[in-house]
Amino acid sequence: MERVQPESLPGMTPTNTKTACADAGGLDGVDLPALANRVGTPCYAYSAGTIRQRAGDLQAALRGLDAGVCYAVKANSNLAILQLMAEAGFGADIVSGGELWRSLRAGIPPERIVFSGVGKTAGEIAEALEAGIARFNVESEDELHLLERLAAERGTVVRASVRVNPDVDANTHAKISTGKSANKFGVGIDEARNWFAASAALMHVRLDGLHVHIGSQMLSLDPIREALQRVAAFRRELVAAGHPIDCIDVGGGLGVCYREGRDRPVAIEDYGDVIRDTLADFSGRILLEPGRWLVAGAGVLLTKVIRVKRGRERQFLVVDAAMTDLLRPSLYDAWHDIVPVTREPRPLQRYDVVGPVCETSDTFARDRELPRCEPGELLLIRTTGAYGSSMGSTFNSRPLAPEVLLDRGRYAVVRRRQTLEEMIAGERPAQQWESA
Ligand SMILES: Cc1ncc(COP(=O)(O)O)c(C=O)c1O
Repeated sequence: MERVQPESLPGMTPTNTKTACADAGGLDGVDLPALANRVGTPCYAYSAGTIRQRAGDLQAALRGLDAGVCYAVKANSNLAILQLMAEAGFGADIVSGGELWRSLRAGIPPERIVFSGVGKTAGEIAEALEAGIARFNVESEDELHLLERLAAERGTVVRASVRVNPDVDANTHAKISTGKSANKFGVGIDEARNWFAASAALMHVRLDGLHVHIGSQMLSLDPIREALQRVAAFRRELVAAGHPIDCIDVGGGLGVCYREGRDRPVAIEDYGDVIRDTLADFSGRILLEPGRWLVAGAGVLLTKVIRVKRGRERQFLVVDAAMTDLLRPSLYDAWHDIVPVTREPRPLQRYDVVGPVCETSDTFARDRELPRCEPGELLLIRTTGAYGSSMGSTFNSRPLAPEVLLDRGRYAVVRRRQTLEEMIAGERPAQQWESA
Protein backbone atom coordinates (compact mmCIF):
# COMPACT_ATOMS: atom_id res chain seq x y z
CA MET A 1 0.00 0.00 0.00
CA GLU A 2 1.27 3.45 -0.81
CA ARG A 3 1.83 5.81 2.06
CA VAL A 4 0.03 9.13 2.14
CA GLN A 5 2.56 11.95 2.39
CA PRO A 6 2.08 13.97 5.57
CA GLU A 7 1.72 17.72 5.31
CA SER A 8 2.91 20.39 7.71
CA LEU A 9 0.76 23.26 8.80
CA PRO A 10 2.27 26.74 8.42
CA GLY A 11 4.08 27.89 11.52
CA MET A 12 4.36 24.39 12.92
CA THR A 13 7.52 22.82 14.07
CA PRO A 14 7.54 19.05 14.01
CA THR A 15 8.06 17.78 17.55
CA ASN A 16 8.88 14.43 18.99
CA THR A 17 5.63 14.17 20.90
CA LYS A 18 5.26 10.53 21.83
CA THR A 19 1.86 10.49 23.37
CA ALA A 20 -1.38 12.29 22.70
CA CYS A 21 -1.94 15.52 24.54
CA ALA A 22 -4.96 17.21 23.12
CA ASP A 23 -5.15 19.69 25.95
CA ALA A 24 -3.21 22.62 24.63
CA GLY A 25 -5.06 22.76 21.33
CA GLY A 26 -2.50 20.35 19.93
CA LEU A 27 -2.24 16.64 19.39
CA ASP A 28 0.94 14.84 18.39
CA GLY A 29 2.50 18.26 17.76
CA VAL A 30 -0.27 19.40 15.41
CA ASP A 31 -2.27 22.55 16.05
CA LEU A 32 -5.89 21.43 16.08
CA PRO A 33 -7.63 24.73 15.22
CA ALA A 34 -5.34 25.07 12.19
CA LEU A 35 -6.09 21.47 11.25
CA ALA A 36 -9.84 22.06 11.57
CA ASN A 37 -9.52 25.07 9.25
CA ARG A 38 -7.66 23.01 6.70
CA VAL A 39 -9.72 19.83 6.76
CA GLY A 40 -13.08 21.11 8.02
CA THR A 41 -15.31 19.66 10.71
CA PRO A 42 -16.47 17.16 11.76
CA CYS A 43 -13.16 15.38 11.43
CA TYR A 44 -11.35 12.57 13.22
CA ALA A 45 -7.72 13.09 14.19
CA TYR A 46 -5.53 10.21 15.37
CA SER A 47 -2.14 10.44 17.02
CA ALA A 48 0.29 7.98 15.45
CA GLY A 49 2.64 8.55 18.41
CA THR A 50 0.01 7.39 20.87
CA ILE A 51 -0.73 4.25 18.89
CA ARG A 52 2.96 3.38 18.64
CA GLN A 53 3.35 3.99 22.34
CA ARG A 54 0.43 1.69 23.15
CA ALA A 55 1.77 -1.00 20.86
CA GLY A 56 5.17 -0.77 22.53
CA ASP A 57 3.68 -0.87 26.04
CA LEU A 58 1.66 -3.96 25.18
CA GLN A 59 4.69 -5.69 23.71
CA ALA A 60 6.68 -4.85 26.83
CA ALA A 61 3.92 -6.29 29.04
CA LEU A 62 4.04 -9.54 27.07
CA ARG A 63 7.82 -9.90 27.17
CA GLY A 64 8.96 -13.46 27.69
CA LEU A 65 5.73 -14.96 26.39
CA ASP A 66 5.34 -16.63 23.01
CA ALA A 67 2.62 -14.11 22.22
CA GLY A 68 1.31 -12.46 19.07
CA VAL A 69 -1.06 -9.51 18.82
CA CYS A 70 -3.89 -9.64 16.29
CA TYR A 71 -5.37 -6.13 16.30
CA ALA A 72 -9.19 -6.19 16.27
CA VAL A 73 -9.79 -4.41 12.97
CA LYS A 74 -13.36 -3.46 13.84
CA ALA A 75 -12.13 -0.93 16.40
CA ASN A 76 -10.70 1.31 13.70
CA SER A 77 -10.28 -0.13 10.26
CA ASN A 78 -8.72 2.82 8.46
CA LEU A 79 -5.89 1.57 6.24
CA ALA A 80 -3.40 3.96 7.83
CA ILE A 81 -4.19 2.59 11.28
CA LEU A 82 -3.86 -0.97 10.00
CA GLN A 83 -0.54 -0.01 8.48
CA LEU A 84 0.69 1.22 11.87
CA MET A 85 -0.32 -2.14 13.31
CA ALA A 86 1.54 -3.96 10.54
CA GLU A 87 4.62 -1.84 11.25
CA ALA A 88 4.38 -2.82 14.92
CA GLY A 89 4.52 -6.46 13.80
CA PHE A 90 0.89 -7.06 14.67
CA GLY A 91 -1.56 -9.24 12.83
CA ALA A 92 -5.31 -8.79 12.57
CA ASP A 93 -8.43 -10.23 14.13
CA ILE A 94 -11.09 -9.96 11.42
CA VAL A 95 -14.82 -10.61 11.40
CA SER A 96 -15.74 -10.20 7.74
CA GLY A 97 -14.49 -10.57 4.19
CA GLY A 98 -14.23 -6.78 4.09
CA GLU A 99 -11.91 -6.72 7.07
CA LEU A 100 -9.81 -9.46 5.47
CA TRP A 101 -9.51 -7.39 2.31
CA ARG A 102 -8.55 -4.25 4.22
CA SER A 103 -5.99 -6.05 6.34
CA LEU A 104 -4.26 -7.61 3.35
CA ARG A 105 -4.43 -4.29 1.54
CA ALA A 106 -2.68 -2.61 4.47
CA GLY A 107 0.14 -5.14 4.31
CA ILE A 108 -0.76 -7.39 7.24
CA PRO A 109 0.59 -10.83 6.30
CA PRO A 110 -2.15 -13.50 6.02
CA GLU A 111 -0.25 -15.78 8.37
CA ARG A 112 -0.91 -13.21 11.12
CA ILE A 113 -4.66 -13.03 10.54
CA VAL A 114 -7.32 -14.82 12.57
CA PHE A 115 -11.00 -14.89 11.63
CA SER A 116 -13.65 -14.60 14.38
CA GLY A 117 -17.40 -14.06 14.22
CA VAL A 118 -20.64 -16.03 14.40
CA GLY A 119 -21.79 -15.39 10.85
CA LYS A 120 -18.93 -16.27 8.55
CA THR A 121 -20.44 -17.10 5.18
CA ALA A 122 -19.16 -19.81 2.84
CA GLY A 123 -17.88 -17.06 0.54
CA GLU A 124 -15.95 -15.34 3.32
CA ILE A 125 -14.47 -18.60 4.58
CA ALA A 126 -13.39 -19.44 1.02
CA GLU A 127 -11.70 -16.05 0.62
CA ALA A 128 -9.86 -16.49 3.91
CA LEU A 129 -8.76 -20.01 2.95
CA GLU A 130 -7.48 -18.76 -0.36
CA ALA A 131 -5.61 -15.94 1.34
CA GLY A 132 -3.98 -18.51 3.65
CA ILE A 133 -4.86 -16.93 7.00
CA ALA A 134 -3.41 -18.32 10.22
CA ARG A 135 -6.51 -19.69 11.84
CA PHE A 136 -10.26 -19.62 12.21
CA ASN A 137 -11.96 -19.02 15.53
CA VAL A 138 -14.94 -21.30 15.06
CA GLU A 139 -18.19 -20.37 16.79
CA SER A 140 -20.68 -23.12 15.87
CA GLU A 141 -20.74 -26.76 14.80
CA ASP A 142 -22.30 -25.82 11.50
CA GLU A 143 -19.37 -23.48 10.82
CA LEU A 144 -16.90 -26.23 11.74
CA HIS A 145 -18.41 -28.60 9.17
CA LEU A 146 -18.56 -25.88 6.55
CA LEU A 147 -14.89 -25.10 7.17
CA GLU A 148 -14.03 -28.81 6.84
CA ARG A 149 -15.90 -29.04 3.53
CA LEU A 150 -14.41 -25.87 2.05
CA ALA A 151 -10.89 -26.81 3.14
CA ALA A 152 -11.39 -30.31 1.66
CA GLU A 153 -12.50 -28.79 -1.66
CA ARG A 154 -9.22 -26.90 -1.74
CA GLY A 155 -7.15 -29.89 -0.65
CA THR A 156 -5.80 -27.99 2.33
CA VAL A 157 -5.61 -28.42 6.09
CA VAL A 158 -6.51 -25.38 8.13
CA ARG A 159 -5.93 -24.59 11.79
CA ALA A 160 -8.90 -23.76 13.95
CA SER A 161 -9.66 -22.75 17.53
CA VAL A 162 -12.93 -23.30 19.28
CA ARG A 163 -14.37 -20.05 20.58
CA VAL A 164 -15.34 -21.02 24.08
CA ASN A 165 -18.17 -19.17 25.79
CA PRO A 166 -17.11 -19.51 29.43
CA ASP A 167 -20.31 -18.02 30.88
CA VAL A 168 -18.43 -15.26 32.68
CA ASP A 169 -19.93 -11.84 33.25
CA ALA A 170 -17.59 -9.19 31.86
CA ASN A 171 -19.23 -6.51 34.05
CA THR A 172 -19.53 -4.17 31.13
CA HIS A 173 -22.39 -2.69 29.13
CA ALA A 174 -24.85 -5.46 28.17
CA LYS A 175 -24.47 -4.59 24.48
CA ILE A 176 -20.75 -5.29 24.49
CA SER A 177 -20.84 -8.35 26.73
CA THR A 178 -20.05 -11.52 24.80
CA GLY A 179 -19.07 -14.22 27.29
CA LYS A 180 -22.37 -15.14 28.98
CA SER A 181 -24.16 -18.28 27.83
CA ALA A 182 -27.12 -16.11 26.78
CA ASN A 183 -24.87 -14.33 24.25
CA LYS A 184 -24.63 -15.51 20.66
CA PHE A 185 -20.85 -15.93 20.76
CA GLY A 186 -18.87 -19.14 20.98
CA VAL A 187 -19.97 -22.48 22.40
CA GLY A 188 -20.14 -23.78 25.94
CA ILE A 189 -17.37 -26.00 27.28
CA ASP A 190 -19.64 -29.08 27.11
CA GLU A 191 -20.21 -28.59 23.41
CA ALA A 192 -16.53 -27.81 22.79
CA ARG A 193 -15.62 -31.06 24.57
CA ASN A 194 -17.82 -32.97 22.12
CA TRP A 195 -16.17 -31.28 19.16
CA PHE A 196 -12.73 -32.39 20.31
CA ALA A 197 -14.01 -35.91 20.99
CA ALA A 198 -15.22 -36.08 17.38
CA SER A 199 -12.28 -34.21 15.87
CA ALA A 200 -10.52 -37.33 14.55
CA ALA A 201 -13.10 -37.31 11.77
CA LEU A 202 -11.90 -33.89 10.60
CA MET A 203 -9.40 -34.43 7.82
CA HIS A 204 -9.01 -30.80 6.78
CA VAL A 205 -9.44 -28.89 10.01
CA ARG A 206 -6.78 -29.16 12.68
CA LEU A 207 -8.66 -28.34 15.84
CA ASP A 208 -5.75 -27.34 18.06
CA GLY A 209 -6.71 -24.04 19.64
CA LEU A 210 -8.97 -22.38 22.18
CA HIS A 211 -10.31 -18.86 21.87
CA VAL A 212 -12.16 -16.70 24.37
CA HIS A 213 -13.42 -13.11 24.26
CA ILE A 214 -15.94 -12.16 26.92
CA GLY A 215 -16.62 -8.50 26.23
CA SER A 216 -15.28 -5.04 25.66
CA GLN A 217 -14.42 -1.98 27.80
CA MET A 218 -13.54 -4.11 30.83
CA LEU A 219 -12.11 -2.05 33.68
CA SER A 220 -11.35 -5.00 35.93
CA LEU A 221 -9.07 -7.97 35.45
CA ASP A 222 -11.29 -10.27 37.52
CA PRO A 223 -13.57 -11.46 34.69
CA ILE A 224 -10.58 -11.86 32.37
CA ARG A 225 -8.76 -13.95 34.99
CA GLU A 226 -11.85 -16.06 35.59
CA ALA A 227 -12.40 -16.70 31.88
CA LEU A 228 -8.75 -17.60 31.35
CA GLN A 229 -8.76 -19.91 34.35
CA ARG A 230 -11.71 -21.80 32.84
CA VAL A 231 -9.99 -22.00 29.47
CA ALA A 232 -6.74 -23.14 31.09
CA ALA A 233 -8.54 -25.87 33.04
CA PHE A 234 -10.32 -26.99 29.89
CA ARG A 235 -7.00 -27.14 28.04
CA ARG A 236 -5.53 -29.39 30.72
CA GLU A 237 -8.55 -31.65 30.44
CA LEU A 238 -8.23 -31.79 26.65
CA VAL A 239 -4.52 -32.56 26.78
CA ALA A 240 -5.18 -35.36 29.27
CA ALA A 241 -7.75 -36.74 26.85
CA GLY A 242 -5.17 -36.74 24.05
CA HIS A 243 -6.05 -33.47 22.31
CA PRO A 244 -2.96 -31.27 22.18
CA ILE A 245 -3.62 -27.52 22.17
CA ASP A 246 -1.07 -25.38 20.32
CA CYS A 247 -2.71 -22.01 20.60
CA ILE A 248 -4.76 -20.04 23.12
CA ASP A 249 -6.32 -16.80 21.93
CA VAL A 250 -7.23 -14.63 24.92
CA GLY A 251 -9.33 -12.16 22.90
CA GLY A 252 -9.45 -8.43 23.55
CA GLY A 253 -11.65 -6.36 25.81
CA LEU A 254 -9.38 -4.11 27.86
CA GLY A 255 -11.11 -0.87 28.78
CA VAL A 256 -9.88 2.69 28.47
CA CYS A 257 -10.58 5.95 30.30
CA TYR A 258 -13.54 7.68 28.71
CA ARG A 259 -14.33 9.79 31.74
CA GLU A 260 -11.37 11.46 33.30
CA GLY A 261 -11.31 11.03 37.06
CA ARG A 262 -13.87 8.21 36.96
CA ASP A 263 -12.74 5.35 34.71
CA ARG A 264 -9.70 3.51 36.01
CA PRO A 265 -8.30 1.22 33.32
CA VAL A 266 -6.13 -1.67 34.43
CA ALA A 267 -2.36 -1.41 34.12
CA ILE A 268 -1.17 -3.23 31.04
CA GLU A 269 1.60 -4.92 33.03
CA ASP A 270 -1.05 -6.41 35.33
CA TYR A 271 -2.92 -7.71 32.29
CA GLY A 272 0.30 -9.34 31.09
CA ASP A 273 0.70 -10.92 34.52
CA VAL A 274 -2.83 -12.35 34.45
CA ILE A 275 -2.04 -14.03 31.13
CA ARG A 276 1.31 -15.22 32.48
CA ASP A 277 -0.24 -16.62 35.68
CA THR A 278 -3.33 -18.26 34.25
CA LEU A 279 -1.46 -19.84 31.33
CA ALA A 280 1.70 -20.63 33.29
CA ASP A 281 1.69 -24.33 32.35
CA PHE A 282 0.93 -23.65 28.68
CA SER A 283 3.93 -23.61 26.37
CA GLY A 284 2.16 -22.98 23.05
CA ARG A 285 1.36 -19.80 21.16
CA ILE A 286 -0.72 -17.12 22.86
CA LEU A 287 -2.70 -14.69 20.73
CA LEU A 288 -4.34 -11.44 21.82
CA GLU A 289 -7.00 -9.44 20.01
CA PRO A 290 -7.03 -5.94 21.51
CA GLY A 291 -8.85 -3.22 19.64
CA ARG A 292 -10.10 -0.38 21.82
CA TRP A 293 -7.08 -0.32 24.14
CA LEU A 294 -4.69 0.31 21.25
CA VAL A 295 -6.53 3.11 19.48
CA ALA A 296 -9.33 4.71 21.53
CA GLY A 297 -7.19 7.25 23.36
CA ALA A 298 -5.29 8.17 20.21
CA GLY A 299 -8.34 9.73 18.57
CA VAL A 300 -10.37 12.90 18.91
CA LEU A 301 -13.41 13.99 16.97
CA LEU A 302 -13.20 17.68 16.09
CA THR A 303 -16.56 19.38 15.85
CA LYS A 304 -17.82 22.96 15.68
CA VAL A 305 -20.78 24.46 17.44
CA ILE A 306 -23.39 25.34 14.82
CA ARG A 307 -25.65 27.16 17.23
CA VAL A 308 -26.65 27.44 20.84
CA LYS A 309 -30.35 26.72 21.12
CA ARG A 310 -32.13 27.81 24.24
CA GLY A 311 -35.02 25.41 24.81
CA ARG A 312 -37.65 25.86 27.47
CA GLU A 313 -36.08 23.32 29.77
CA ARG A 314 -32.53 22.90 28.54
CA GLN A 315 -29.83 24.57 26.53
CA PHE A 316 -28.67 22.71 23.48
CA LEU A 317 -25.25 22.97 21.98
CA VAL A 318 -25.92 21.91 18.39
CA VAL A 319 -22.64 20.69 16.89
CA ASP A 320 -21.77 19.64 13.35
CA ALA A 321 -20.82 16.07 14.33
CA ALA A 322 -23.64 13.59 14.73
CA MET A 323 -24.45 10.04 15.69
CA THR A 324 -23.52 9.20 12.11
CA ASP A 325 -19.92 10.08 12.98
CA LEU A 326 -19.85 8.74 16.54
CA LEU A 327 -22.57 6.27 17.42
CA ARG A 328 -21.42 5.14 20.88
CA PRO A 329 -23.37 7.69 22.95
CA SER A 330 -26.61 6.90 21.08
CA LEU A 331 -26.02 3.16 21.05
CA TYR A 332 -24.67 2.55 24.54
CA ASP A 333 -25.28 5.84 26.36
CA ALA A 334 -21.50 5.97 26.33
CA TRP A 335 -19.73 8.91 27.96
CA HIS A 336 -17.09 10.86 26.05
CA ASP A 337 -15.33 13.83 27.60
CA ILE A 338 -15.99 16.97 25.54
CA VAL A 339 -13.73 20.01 25.82
CA PRO A 340 -13.38 23.28 23.96
CA VAL A 341 -10.06 23.51 22.16
CA THR A 342 -9.52 27.04 23.43
CA ARG A 343 -8.94 26.89 27.14
CA GLU A 344 -9.48 30.55 28.11
CA PRO A 345 -11.38 30.77 31.40
CA ARG A 346 -15.13 31.26 31.04
CA PRO A 347 -18.17 30.72 33.22
CA LEU A 348 -19.52 27.19 33.18
CA GLN A 349 -22.93 26.30 31.80
CA ARG A 350 -24.96 23.14 31.44
CA TYR A 351 -25.71 21.92 27.94
CA ASP A 352 -27.13 18.99 26.08
CA VAL A 353 -24.58 18.48 23.32
CA VAL A 354 -26.51 17.28 20.29
CA GLY A 355 -25.95 16.63 16.60
CA PRO A 356 -28.11 17.72 13.65
CA VAL A 357 -29.63 14.29 12.94
CA CYS A 358 -33.39 13.87 13.26
CA GLU A 359 -33.26 11.46 16.20
CA THR A 360 -33.46 12.39 19.85
CA SER A 361 -30.75 9.80 20.42
CA ASP A 362 -28.39 12.00 18.41
CA THR A 363 -27.03 13.30 21.70
CA PHE A 364 -23.39 13.24 22.75
CA ALA A 365 -23.94 14.45 26.30
CA ARG A 366 -26.84 15.43 28.54
CA ASP A 367 -26.73 18.21 31.08
CA ARG A 368 -22.97 18.44 30.70
CA GLU A 369 -21.09 21.27 32.36
CA LEU A 370 -18.92 23.08 29.84
CA PRO A 371 -17.35 26.51 29.54
CA ARG A 372 -19.86 28.86 27.90
CA CYS A 373 -19.74 28.25 24.15
CA GLU A 374 -20.54 30.45 21.18
CA PRO A 375 -21.38 29.41 17.61
CA GLY A 376 -18.19 28.51 15.74
CA GLU A 377 -16.47 27.20 18.88
CA LEU A 378 -14.23 24.22 18.17
CA LEU A 379 -14.78 21.26 20.49
CA LEU A 380 -12.95 18.00 20.96
CA ILE A 381 -14.87 14.84 21.64
CA ARG A 382 -12.20 12.73 23.24
CA THR A 383 -11.22 9.08 23.23
CA THR A 384 -12.86 8.47 19.90
CA GLY A 385 -10.15 6.50 18.12
CA ALA A 386 -12.03 3.20 18.59
CA TYR A 387 -15.54 2.33 17.45
CA GLY A 388 -15.90 5.86 16.12
CA SER A 389 -15.34 6.21 12.39
CA SER A 390 -15.58 2.44 11.95
CA MET A 391 -19.23 2.61 13.10
CA GLY A 392 -20.00 5.65 10.95
CA SER A 393 -22.92 5.82 8.55
CA THR A 394 -24.47 8.18 6.04
CA PHE A 395 -27.85 8.34 7.76
CA ASN A 396 -29.65 11.62 6.98
CA SER A 397 -27.43 11.70 3.85
CA ARG A 398 -24.46 12.96 5.80
CA PRO A 399 -21.20 12.13 4.02
CA LEU A 400 -18.62 10.20 6.06
CA ALA A 401 -16.26 12.47 7.99
CA PRO A 402 -12.58 12.70 7.07
CA GLU A 403 -9.86 11.04 9.12
CA VAL A 404 -6.43 12.52 9.65
CA LEU A 405 -3.31 10.87 11.03
CA LEU A 406 -1.03 13.12 13.04
CA ASP A 407 2.63 12.39 13.54
CA ARG A 408 5.23 14.64 15.15
CA GLY A 409 3.86 17.95 13.95
CA ARG A 410 2.60 16.79 10.58
CA TYR A 411 -0.69 15.46 9.38
CA ALA A 412 -1.89 13.23 6.56
CA VAL A 413 -5.50 12.96 5.44
CA VAL A 414 -6.02 9.21 5.55
CA ARG A 415 -9.65 9.36 4.52
CA ARG A 416 -10.95 12.44 2.80
CA ARG A 417 -14.44 13.70 3.39
CA GLN A 418 -16.83 11.65 1.32
CA THR A 419 -18.31 13.58 -1.58
CA LEU A 420 -22.03 13.56 -2.27
CA GLU A 421 -21.35 11.66 -5.49
CA GLU A 422 -19.41 9.01 -3.56
CA MET A 423 -22.21 8.81 -1.03
CA ILE A 424 -24.75 7.82 -3.67
CA ALA A 425 -22.37 5.75 -5.80
CA GLY A 426 -24.17 2.56 -6.75
CA GLU A 427 -27.63 4.07 -6.38
CA ARG A 428 -29.76 4.80 -9.42
CA PRO A 429 -33.40 5.42 -10.22
CA ALA A 430 -35.29 2.21 -11.05
CA GLN A 431 -35.13 2.07 -14.84
CA GLN A 432 -34.14 -1.42 -15.81
CA TRP A 433 -36.55 -3.93 -14.37
CA GLU A 434 -35.64 -7.63 -14.36
CA SER A 435 -37.32 -10.83 -13.25
CA ALA A 436 -35.65 -13.02 -10.63
C1 LIG B 1 -13.71 -11.67 18.90
C2 LIG B 1 -13.30 -10.31 19.31
N1 LIG B 1 -12.01 -10.09 19.57
C3 LIG B 1 -11.57 -8.87 19.92
C4 LIG B 1 -12.44 -7.79 20.04
C5 LIG B 1 -11.89 -6.46 20.42
O1 LIG B 1 -12.36 -6.02 21.61
P1 LIG B 1 -11.79 -4.69 22.25
O2 LIG B 1 -11.90 -3.62 21.24
O3 LIG B 1 -12.65 -4.46 23.43
O4 LIG B 1 -10.38 -4.98 22.64
C6 LIG B 1 -13.80 -7.99 19.79
C7 LIG B 1 -14.73 -6.88 19.95
O5 LIG B 1 -15.90 -6.94 19.87
C8 LIG B 1 -14.24 -9.28 19.40
O6 LIG B 1 -15.53 -9.52 19.15
